Parts: sequence; C-alpha cells; structure tokens
Amino acid sequence: MDTNTVLKPEDFLSYYQMLEAAKAGPAALLLKTLTFIEADRAEADTSTRLAVDLGCGTGKDTVELLRRDWKVLAIDYSQAGVDALLQRPEATQYKDNLETRVASFSDTSWHDATLVAALLSLPYGPAESFDAVWQAIRASLLPGGYFVGQLFGPNHYKGMNHIVRRTRSEVETMLAGMEVIHLEELSLEQTHEGETVYYNYFEIIACNRKQ
Ligand SMILES: C[S@@+](CC[C@H](N)C(=O)[O-])C[C@H]1O[C@@H](n2cnc3c(N)ncnc32)[C@H](O)[C@@H]1O
Repeated sequence: MDTNTVLKPEDFLSYYQMLEAAKAGPAALLLKTLTFIEADRAEADTSTRLAVDLGCGTGKDTVELLRRDWKVLAIDYSQAGVDALLQRPEATQYKDNLETRVASFSDTSWHDATLVAALLSLPYGPAESFDAVWQAIRASLLPGGYFVGQLFGPNHYKGMNHIVRRTRSEVETMLAGMEVIHLEELSLEQTHEGETVYYNYFEIIACNRKQ
C-alpha cells in the first residue's frame, strides 16, 4: 500500500480477504451500541428504524442490523465491497430493508437515522471533507439517535500519511452536545517480522440528545 497518497477502493481488498478468512462477525462495539438502543426503546415502539452503515465494506455489520429488523442504508465507495455484501444471504432475505450505495462519504446524503455506524471507516476518507462529513452525520441523527465508530489518534499507523487523526480533545470537541456513552482511547503496538505497527484509536458510542 502506498502510504503517501489518498486511499483508493482497491486498497481495501486485502482487508476484505482477511475478514473473509477470519469469518468475521459483527463488531463488538456495534453489538454494545445495540444493547443501549434496545434499552432506550419504548416497549410499544415496533417501528422500523434506519441505520446507516458508512464504509460498510463487505457488510458484516449491515447483515447483523438486517437480522435485527433495521432498515439499512449501506454506503461504501468500493464496488467490490458492496458486491460482496449483496452476495450474503441476508441481502436477499431482507432485500426490502436494504439500500446500498457505491459512493464516497462526502458525495451522498441521508436523513432521519436512528443509528450511524462508521466502523473503522471515517478516518480513511479524504482529510479535506472529514469535518463536513462529521457535521452531516450529526445533522442526520434523529433526536435520541446514536453514532458508533472509531476515530484514529495521533499515533495511529505512525508514518502513514493517508489517514485522518484527531487528538482526544479534538474528539471531545466533535462530540460536544452529544451524550457520550462510551469513549475509550486504545494504544498498543505490535511487532511482526521486525516491523512495529502502532495502534492508537478511539472507540465511540454517543447519543444525539432528545430535545
Ligand atoms: C477498514 S474498512 C472497514 C469496513 C467495515 N466497516 C468493517 O468494519 O469491516 C474501511 C472501509 O471504508 C471504505 N471507505 C474508505 N474511504 C471511503 C470513502 N471516502 N467513502 C466511502 N467509503 C470509504 C473502504 O472501502 C472500506 O470498505
């Protein structure tokens, strides 16, 4: 992977292969968020809610949401990712509740979301549209709607120039006005075949306060 240029959809193909080989299921952070949302939900409320899976990849999280009766808008700029999502049995089984879009974060829009999930995706978007995309996410959440995702900290993937990084205080500013349910900064390093990789990222679950 070229570390000095903006990432392209094909740069994620090896990640998709890795997920497939691992038979990866939904993100633990998403499952945790869903427990908060279910606890919040009035017993009599059986309406179908909209979740946006931003940077859905091959759809491991989208299908979990479909299985739980969400309507899902799955967005990714990778045609290969969206094609793989559409190959999953749930995409056919719940087709009336699924919309897919091959689009960049900054070139698409949606509204009235109860959940926006950006799992390991937003920091890969172009830096120049990062703040606007974040504002669009905030504006798209219904009162009581949730955001779940990760943002990368200052030491994430040291030496690579193509990702957007934010300090803890910048993350807190981004979340101002939201109820922060979970904000955890993780920092670790792993050495593999003599090469050290630094991971430093924030896990976030936040709720758009009800007025
Ligand atoms: C590391 S993968 C994560 C995929 C999935 N959310 C998961 O957790 O397995 C990042 C995803 O973001 C998508 N992506 C990166 N930049 C994007 C952009 N500017 N617009 C839309 N999707 C983007 C990639 O194609 C890729 O599928």
